[in-house]
Amino acid sequence: MFNHLSVQYVKQVIIIGLLNWKPEFSFPIKTVILKETTSTNSVCKELFASGTHSALVIALSQTGGKGRLGRSFYSPAETGIYMSLLLRPSLNSQDTVSLTTAAAVAVSKAIDEITGKNSYIKWVNDIYLYDKKVCGILCEAGLSTNKATPDYVIVGIGININTPKNNFPEDIKDKAGSLFEESKTSDDVKKQLILKTFENFFEIYNTLPLKNYMEYYRNKSLLQDKEVSFVKDGLEFSGKVVGITDNAGIIIKTKNETITLCAGEVSLKF
Ligand code: BTN
Repeated sequence: MFNHLSVQYVKQVIIIGLLNWKPEFSFPIKTVILKETTSTNSVCKELFASGTHSALVIALSQTGGKGRLGRSFYSPAETGIYMSLLLRPSLNSQDTVSLTTAAAVAVSKAIDEITGKNSYIKWVNDIYLYDKKVCGILCEAGLSTNKATPDYVIVGIGININTPKNNFPEDIKDKAGSLFEESKTSDDVKKQLILKTFENFFEIYNTLPLKNYMEYYRNKSLLQDKEVSFVKDGLEFSGKVVGITDNAGIIIKTKNETITLCAGEVSLKF
């Protein structure tokens, strides 16, 4: 059919799905990609128990996704990405806590870089886009008494990429959002998001004690200058957020005093 003058070159485009993907980071890390698991944080704990030093576990769905404060994290297939990083860091307890803040900055930056949108960080570490939560972070540490550094830290990150076809479940549908309006996002964009998130994270991790990332965190603080309510020692307070400390404590000016919260949750007052 072709003569020697009309040689056709067939350009072969090889599309590698997420499951067969071997992410190339600028740092060495064992990566495991699973179609479905209970919780990537739990997989990391098992890897730690079997002697793995560090690893990145990515799942395309979770059947028992864990959230902060004992909640669950909705983790359906197709519309989200669920990932956990297992580390054995030589960090003191304050810097270990800072890994959560560092992760929030890393994901927020990655989301902005990939979507071109402007995400915000709601204290402590939820990422918001257009007033909806698009990402949650759950850090867990294994601590032994009489050791100054943790045995392990797991940084778990769940991102809602698209809104599920039948919307989010009733209990979270008013609060949850997604990065993109369309119902499907290409694997390539998801890969870029994963790469950027962990490249950003390790850039911060390498100089964590300097706390350089706190400037970004403060600039992206969703609650700055907002009226919030919170519970402390069983009592309900309300006040205005006036700042964030270097250790990511939130400073709230109430009618009678200024309170710094180091952990917990605050709610926006409407
Ligand atoms: C929250 O919003 O309360 C935190 C949610 C953290 C969810 C991620 S998804 C990957 C990792 N595995 C889990 O089971 N949880 C975290």
